[in-house]
Amino acid sequence: MNKNFKQVVFSGVQPTGSLHLGNYLGAIKNFVELQKKMECIYCIVDLHAITVFQNPKELKKNILETTAEFIACGLDFKKSIIFNQSSVSGHAELAWIFNCISRIGWMNRMTQFKEKAGSNKENASVGLYVYPSLMAADILLYKATHVPVGDDQKQHLELVRNIAQKFNNDFKSSNFFPIPEPLIQKKLSRVMSLRDGKKKMSKSEESDYSRINLQDSEDEIRKKIKKAKTDSSPIPGTIEELKDRPEALNLLSIYSFVINSTIEKTLNTMKGREFSKFKNDLSDALVATICPIGKKIKNLKNDQSYLLKILHEGTERANSIAEKNLDKVKEIMGFVLH
Ligand code: TRP
Repeated sequence: MNKNFKQVVFSGVQPTGSLHLGNYLGAIKNFVELQKKMECIYCIVDLHAITVFQNPKELKKNILETTAEFIACGLDFKKSIIFNQSSVSGHAELAWIFNCISRIGWMNRMTQFKEKAGSNKENASVGLYVYPSLMAADILLYKATHVPVGDDQKQHLELVRNIAQKFNNDFKSSNFFPIPEPLIQKKLSRVMSLRDGKKKMSKSEESDYSRINLQDSEDEIRKKIKKAKTDSSPIPGTIEELKDRPEALNLLSIYSFVINSTIEKTLNTMKGREFSKFKNDLSDALVATICPIGKKIKNLKNDQSYLLKILHEGTERANSIAEKNLDKVKEIMGFVLH
């Protein structure tokens, strides 16, 4: 369907500050891999962040921190385009146009809005409601064909595809926007909480023992893994036997992914072992992977001018693509360009 388009990857990460292992294994590690194969654009989506109130000082700090985290994890700003959304005005402009393409009925079906707005929908921001229009603008402003996202964004991406299709149909420009495809990691799409294997690892969970942060010290990592919830059975030989053991499955999946192996191989070599022993291996693997990244983040955070330079360069490159595509959209729609 998208064979006439150049393959472009786009993804966005909210500037929440202090990324955790779930963000790294579930998203950023894959971003790093994709860089090797395709043209990639990675955006710090600060306009998405303000759909709920952000303290200005915190927002600025978090945008810079996320930039540092991207670089420390291995994103190459010379190769990929790395920038913050609000610095390219085309995102907000195209989002408005898409608000007029998208249907109220489509937005009403979004489960994430319902979850985030909670019981008091009347008091949620209008921005939170039309958030998927902005997401569509992010992706289509660059005519991106591939979008690495987590499970939770699948429904939003479906809406993005509907917007692209409707634009193409309404304006009889059948091949103007590509219909972007989700790239969902099969091997490890979700890293779960260390305290509850049925809940996603998340920054919003109260206990810091539920997650490994990229900036955790070696001691913290070891302590958290030691305290991580498991059950009393040893490691089984097959994945089927892990079906009702979500915490065990989670730790074994994390380990396999961190050492670039598969869960089958891990079970093969670890079968029969006690979790208390396995946890030492898991801690060693995490310390070896996470601590060097954490150190880099801390160093980069102290070099604000370097981080600003990275964002500035990315913004210029993003903007030159965005401007061209947005002009074309305006021309197709009948706006007067001069
Ligand atoms: N909505 C995404 C999230 O909360 C972030 C995001 C914004 C995004 N724009 C995007 C992801 C475009 C992929 C493509 O995780």
